[in-house]
Amino acid sequence: MSIWSEATQQRARDILSRYPEKRSAVMPLLYLAMAEEGHLTNEGMAEVANWCEITPAQVQAVASFYTMYKRERTGKYLVSCCTSISCMLLGGDDVLHAVEDESGVPHGETDQEGVLSVEHVECIGACGGAPAVQVNYELIEGVTPEKARELVQWLKKAKPEVVNTDEMQQLFGGTRSFDWGIAEQGGAVGPYPAFQPLGTVESEAEV
Ligand code: FES
Repeated sequence: MSIWSEATQQRARDILSRYPEKRSAVMPLLYLAMAEEGHLTNEGMAEVANWCEITPAQVQAVASFYTMYKRERTGKYLVSCCTSISCMLLGGDDVLHAVEDESGVPHGETDQEGVLSVEHVECIGACGGAPAVQVNYELIEGVTPEKARELVQWLKKAKPEVVNTDEMQQLFGGTRSFDWGIAEQGGAVGPYPAFQPLGTVESEAEV
């Protein structure tokens, strides 16, 4: 008997159908478990083990290796500030401190209301647009401390259902790595990556 909603179970079936080996679906199914419960629980990982026909220990081995699998409660918005070398040289630490100060949430923690989680992260692949910040893994480049404060205020007040990189880049970003990139159509609906069939606006509408 599954602990997941019927919609989540259908997503799990869709994901599993793409892989010749069920165990290969362990990573996307871990994101499903996070989406279902807000973070990874032992029960959620046991559920993933069932679907993938592997042991809970094997699932935990994967989940504990990657920092994007959150074992603790995460806020509606996960704000990730890059402090690796390119971002650090261009003020990434100041951006992180501005986010921490404006939100009152130190690195690695979540506010009481469950709205904001803050973390500093290693390079997120946007060095050309440093300093870079992500909200629910949606990227914003060229962020200043002042804009970072505005971003925090916007998240707390507007509480958007979907965060979208293009919108946030316009509102809070500066110079981008590549101005000719393809426009983002979707957006993230939770603190997990918005790849299909997880978390995108389109996939939410399909459910
Ligand atoms: S160093 Fe920050 S995105 Fe690469």
